[in-house]
Amino acid sequence: MTRSRIELGDVTPHNIKQLKKLNTVVFPVSYNEKFYKDVLEVGELAKLAYYNDIVVGAVCCRVDTSENSRRLYIMTLGCLFPYRRLGVGTTMLEHVLNHVEKDGNYDNIYLHVQVNNTSAIDFYKKFGFEIHETKKHYYKRIEPADAHVLQKNLRPAITNGIASPGEKNHHDKHSEKIIDKNNVDKHHNDKHA
Ligand SMILES: CC(C)(COP(=O)(O)OP(=O)(O)OC[C@H]1O[C@@H](n2cnc3c(N)ncnc32)[C@H](O)[C@@H]1OP(=O)(O)O)[C@@H](O)C(=O)NCCC(=O)NCCS
Repeated sequence: MTRSRIELGDVTPHNIKQLKKLNTVVFPVSYNEKFYKDVLEVGELAKLAYYNDIVVGAVCCRVDTSENSRRLYIMTLGCLFPYRRLGVGTTMLEHVLNHVEKDGNYDNIYLHVQVNNTSAIDFYKKFGFEIHETKKHYYKRIEPADAHVLQKNLRPAITNGIASPGEKNHHDKHSEKIIDKNNVDKHHNDKHA
């Protein structure tokens, strides 16, 4: 049973070089020292994924609070090519989704993907993410340069002041807020996969 061999572990000063190596191999975008310094401070929002005790994947997120909304931004979530389709990505994303659910105070969770990254788009759609918008020329050094913003809303949709049935019943003063484009564009110079 392959799933039972997948484990997550903390990112620490001791193993951060493995995270850097993995991100260099998996992503076409490179990340600077500040990225890795911040990753060491985010606790459960950064994890290494192990397959039979070998590092094969990693997820790094940050909290984005601006314009009265609280969002979780997935900066990187990736798995080494030979270990894909074994549930490693699912284990990492479920960890993040459990974290935001337990917290109960996030409006949404989002990330950027290159528009041709169909495997990632299919992967995230399976977990309820949708293409929220498409940004032209988001990436400076890679082709295609356009990015989709994939987003999963974590608040109940409010219609006529009544939350739709079946949605989580968070008390939410931001539910009707339309996502401010500036809020997202703010990260334009802070490229993430
Ligand atoms: C996206 C990514 C993280 C998925 O990781 P993974 O470990 O292969 O994902 P899982 O094995 O948990 O896949 C779960 C489900 O997602 C969907 N999925 C994943 N890869 C897919 C693909 N290439 N094509 C179609 N569906 C796919 C499938 O429904 C899959 O379930 P199944 O294998 O039972 O059919 C991986 O492809 C990756 O590292 N890509 C490069 C990095 C990247 O682009 N990250 C996204 C931006 S942060």
